Amino acid sequence: MIIAIDGPAASGKGTLAQRIGGHFGYVWLDTGLLYRAVARDALAAGADLEDGAACARAAVALDAGTLGDPALRTTAIGEAASVVAKHPAVRAALLDFQRQFARTPPGAVLDGRDIGTVICPDADVKIFVTADVEVRARRRYEEYARRGENVTYDEVLEIIRQRDARDASRAAAPLKQAPDAVLLDTTGMDIETAFQAALNIIAHVTIGRSEAR
Ligand code: CDP
Repeated sequence: MIIAIDGPAASGKGTLAQRIGGHFGYVWLDTGLLYRAVARDALAAGADLEDGAACARAAVALDAGTLGDPALRTTAIGEAASVVAKHPAVRAALLDFQRQFARTPPGAVLDGRDIGTVICPDADVKIFVTADVEVRARRRYEEYARRGENVTYDEVLEIIRQRDARDASRAAAPLKQAPDAVLLDTTGMDIETAFQAALNIIAHVTIGRSEAR
């Protein structure tokens, strides 16, 4: 069973994916961490983030054991990740790892931008999670405030707007809803409500499919 969860920055897809994975006993991968880790390693090697070949070298050499690094969660690394993520060679270098992970029995949940469109086009369930940009900025701002990051709500809103624009406009695997993905707009929902809504979508899609057989 493969569950693909895509959506824009701070839409809550990571929290949802983790809860869904825990609920069904499936493994979970936040694929944004891969791009964040490549950005971290490329910066550490002194690479220019606009240099696709240099960033791809960092992607090929990536040690997946370092994805738990708390430094990956900062605003600056999120920004840098969306720059390295536009290089096709970086995306190509990370493809096999994600596809292999997706095949972990009995099931896997992957969240990102292109899981339902490029990484796992045959996923059993695809959910596109979104929310109004002001709501997403508020959630991210509160997350940063809890961690003591020195950034204002207006700055977070601007960063998220720019990141969404960059992710949606790039040529390689842009952020977009797969035609067969179910839209989940969490604007007025808390985490628990969004989780229940996601479980309903999964039940609906999987029951519908077994009835069609
Ligand atoms: O947590 P948040 O939504 O802010 O970001 P993330 O999921 O950690 O992703 C950071 C950046 O990595 C995104 O802005 C994308 O540019 C890139 N990314 C991607 O291109 N493809 C993915 N499957 C996941 C992330």
